[in-house]
Formats: sequence, C-alpha cells, structure tokens
Amino acid sequence: MIETNRLIIRPFKIEDAYEAQKWFHDADVMRWMPNGPDKTFAETKNRIQKYIDHYLKYGFGKFIIIDKNSNYSIGDAGLMNLDGTKFIELGYRLKKEYWGLGIATEAASSIIKHAFQVDKLENIHAIVEPENIISIYIITTKLHFEYVKKDTFFGEIFNLYRLDNKNFMDMNQI
Ligand SMILES: CC(C)(COP(=O)(O)OP(=O)(O)OC[C@H]1O[C@@H](n2cnc3c(N)ncnc32)[C@H](O)[C@@H]1OP(=O)(O)O)[C@@H](O)C(=O)NCCC(=O)NCCS
Repeated sequence: MIETNRLIIRPFKIEDAYEAQKWFHDADVMRWMPNGPDKTFAETKNRIQKYIDHYLKYGFGKFIIIDKNSNYSIGDAGLMNLDGTKFIELGYRLKKEYWGLGIATEAASSIIKHAFQVDKLENIHAIVEPENIISIYIITTKLHFEYVKKDTFFGEIFNLYRLDNKNFMDMNQI
C-alpha cells in the first residue's frame, strides 16, 4: 500500500469491481484504451482479477486509488508487464469528476518512487497515443519520462517513453 497527501493506493480486491465499473465503463475515461470501455460487469471483474493475479505473481501491478478524505474510489494506476515486450508499463485512469486536481501526477509519482526505491526496477516505460496530449504532458513534463520513438502495440502506433532509475535518482525531483 502507498499513502500520499490525499490518496491511498493499494492492490485491488475483487469486490472493488462494483465501484471500478464507474470508470472502466465510461467511454471518455477509456477513450485511449485499445479495447475501449468495458461493456459488462463480468469484463470488469475479469480485468480486476487479472490485475490481482499480476500483482501476486510479480509484486507490482495496477492498483486502486482511494480518496483518503471520503474513502471513495477515484481510479486506478500502476505498473504492468506490457504484453509481447520486456517493458514494465505505467498507466493511470481517473473518474472524470477527479480530473484536473493533480491526482494522476500525485499517484503516478508515488508509484514510480516506490518502484525505483523499493522494488529497484531498472526502468519504466509508458506508451501513449500521439493524440493524447494531456497524458503526454503528464508523462514528459510532470513525470520526466524521455521520448524514445514511435512503435506499434496492439496494432496501433503509440509514442514510447522511458524513465530510467538512474536518471530518476540523479534528478530526485518527483
Ligand atoms: C490522464 C488523466 C489520468 C489525468 O489525470 P489528472 O489527475 O487530471 O492529471 P493532473 O491533474 O495530475 O494533471 C497534470 C497536468 O495536466 C494538466 N491537465 C490535466 N487535465 C487537463 C485537461 N483536461 N486539459 C488541459 N490540461 C489538463 C493539468 O493542468 C496539470 O498541469 P499543470 O499542473 O501544469 O496545470 C485523466 O485525464 C484521465 O483519466 N484520462 C483518461 C485516461 C487516460 O488517458 N489515461 C492515460 C492513458 S496513456
């Protein structure tokens, strides 16, 4: 579990699927995801089970973000092995009513710090659709990832970014 000023970030439990439907079924939140929004509760439950299994197997995964004040679920963020690659990928999504409050930056920064300082990962990658300007801004300006190249994942072209543990430690600024 990771605690920040405003957030608790913890591994998913299967019963979180009920709350998590609120963002996994939202077409705006899921706009940039290759498969779009989940269509059924079963899909969301399977997704969450996948996140739980990944965490149990690798010790890192997609976590649920909880608002410390209200105890409400806000979204998800975390690290997953990127299918078909050796990359560990950072991702984040929030319920719409929580956009624009600095929460993605707060959650992602703490996850990166934990991954580098505790789990000692060598690097973290991010893939972002070239039109997802907000996420590109967050990845580069807020989280200090470096652009690597355009590459194809899931049959689509993405911008690939990387953050190295060494650079992160040298900067020590997020
Ligand atoms: C991407 C997302 C997680 C951002 O969450 P967020 O908590 O609103 O992001 P932050 O508040 O930390 O924003 C960081 C910066 O982006 C800016 N930003 C965020 N949303 C913005 C918007 N809609 N328009 C313009 N700028 C925006 C913020 O102003 C902030 O910059 P600043 O501090 O210089 O003002 C959220 O918009 C989302 O869930 N989007 C859909 C899912 C998605 O695209 N995930 C990423 C896939 S790669």
